[in-house]
Amino acid sequence: MNILIIGSGGREHALAWKIKQSPLVQEIYCAPGNGGMSEVAQCFDIKVADRDYLLKFAKDKKVDLTVIGPEVPLADGIVDDFVKNGLKVFGPSKAAAQLEGSKVFSKEFMHKHNIPTAPFQTFGDIMEAKGFLEKVTFPLVIKADGLAAGKGVIICANLEEGQQALDQIMGQKVFQEAGNKVVIEECLQGEEVSILAVSDGNDFIMLDSSQDHKRIFDDDLGPNTGGMGAYSPAPIITDVLRQHIEQSIIDPTIKGMKQEGMPFKGVLYAGLMITSQGPMVLEYNVRFGDPEVQAILPRMKNDIVDIMLASCDGRIKKIKPLWDQRACVCVVMSSGGYPGEYETGMEITGLEQIDEKEVNTIVFHAGTKKEENKIVTSGGRVLGVTSLAHGLDKAVERAYENVEKIKFDHCFFRRDIGAKALAKT
Ligand code: AMP
Ligand code: GLY
Repeated sequence: MNILIIGSGGREHALAWKIKQSPLVQEIYCAPGNGGMSEVAQCFDIKVADRDYLLKFAKDKKVDLTVIGPEVPLADGIVDDFVKNGLKVFGPSKAAAQLEGSKVFSKEFMHKHNIPTAPFQTFGDIMEAKGFLEKVTFPLVIKADGLAAGKGVIICANLEEGQQALDQIMGQKVFQEAGNKVVIEECLQGEEVSILAVSDGNDFIMLDSSQDHKRIFDDDLGPNTGGMGAYSPAPIITDVLRQHIEQSIIDPTIKGMKQEGMPFKGVLYAGLMITSQGPMVLEYNVRFGDPEVQAILPRMKNDIVDIMLASCDGRIKKIKPLWDQRACVCVVMSSGGYPGEYETGMEITGLEQIDEKEVNTIVFHAGTKKEENKIVTSGGRVLGVTSLAHGLDKAVERAYENVEKIKFDHCFFRRDIGAKALAKT
C-alpha cells in the first residue's frame, strides 16, 4: 500500500516511523513532513491547508490510505473531501471533528449524554458573559469556542482576570472568530491524563494511557505549550480507573456521536482531570496527541496500519491492542523562547550518536529541516527524544542521557519529565 501522512510535527514523524514497520506498506509520502521524516518517507512541500492539491496528490500517487495528523484540516473537512472522492482516509468527518473544533458543541454534547465534565455556561455576547462573572466564585476557566492552537483556555483567579480574558477573546478577538462564543466553566483540581481510543464509528479500542507536560517550565510553571514531554503508561491509571473511564466517558461518547448522526471515526483523545469525584473531561481532541503519541507508539506491538484500516472499514472490535511492558518517555527539546518568540536555523549536532537499536531511543523530529547535509531547527518544538526501558525511572534516565548528546544553540528542555509520577512511587 501507499500511505500519505499529512502534517509536519513530532506526531507525524512518530506515525511515519511506526507505519514504516508495517509489512502492508510500500511507499510513505508526507506533506509537508520535516527533516527527520525525510529519512523514512518521501516529503513533498504541500501545505496542510491546501486540500484540493492534497486530494490531487493522493490520486496521482495512487495513495491507498491517508492519515491526517493535525486538527485544523480535520475541522475544515478534509476527510469529507477524500471520502467523497472514493479515497480511504483515517480521521473523523467535519461534523464529528466538532468535538475538538467547538468547545460549545463538545460541552453541550457531554451535558446531553451525561459525560462527566466541569459545570459550565456558554455565551455569545460579551456583556452577558461579564454579567455572569459578577455572580460567580473564582477561580474559573474561560475558553474560546473554536480552535486557538492550544492558547484559547484562560484560568482566571479573580473577576478582574475574568473580565480581561473576555475582553481579549470576545472584544479584541485575539483568536479571531474562534472567540465569537465562550465557555465559562468551573476550575477542576487533580492530575491530568490523556486517554486515546480508536473508533470505527460503532465500536472502539482503548490505547494505553499517557501523560503530557503542558507548561513550559519545570514544576508546571509558565505558559502552556503544545506539550514538553510525555510518558506512557501513566501510573495513575489503574485497571479499575481505566475501566471506569471506558464505561463513563469513551463508550458514551462514541455511542452519543452515533446517535447524533455523526459517527466518530479515527482517534478520540479525551483530556481528563482525575478529580476527587472521579475522572472528568477537560477537552476532546480528534487526533493523536503530540507528544503523547511519541511515547505511545514505541510501546504498540500491533501493526498501526491494520488498526487504521480497521477504523476505516468498521472492524475495530477485531483488533486486540498489545503493548510492550516497558515504560516510554519522550523529552521535548525546544527552541529557547518557545512558546513565545524564538529563532530558527540553528544547526543540530550529535544526532548520529544515537543508534535507535543500541540505546532503545528514537529521536522524533518536529521543527527541523534538512539544509544541504545539515539538520537545522525550524520550529518551537524541535525534537522528541524518546526512550524505552523497564521502569519509568530507567526510561527517564535513558531519555535524558540521550538528550545530553544533542546540541543546538538556545536549546531548552524541561528537566522534570516523569518526576511527578516517580515521586509517588
Ligand atoms: P483544553 O484545551 O481545554 O485542554 O485546556 C488546556 C489546559 O487548560 C488543560 O490541559 C488544563 O491544564 C487546563 N484546563 C482546561 N479546563 C480546565 C478546567 N475546567 N479546570 C482546570 N484546568 C483546566
Ligand atoms: N499534547 C496535547 C495535544 O496534543 O493537544
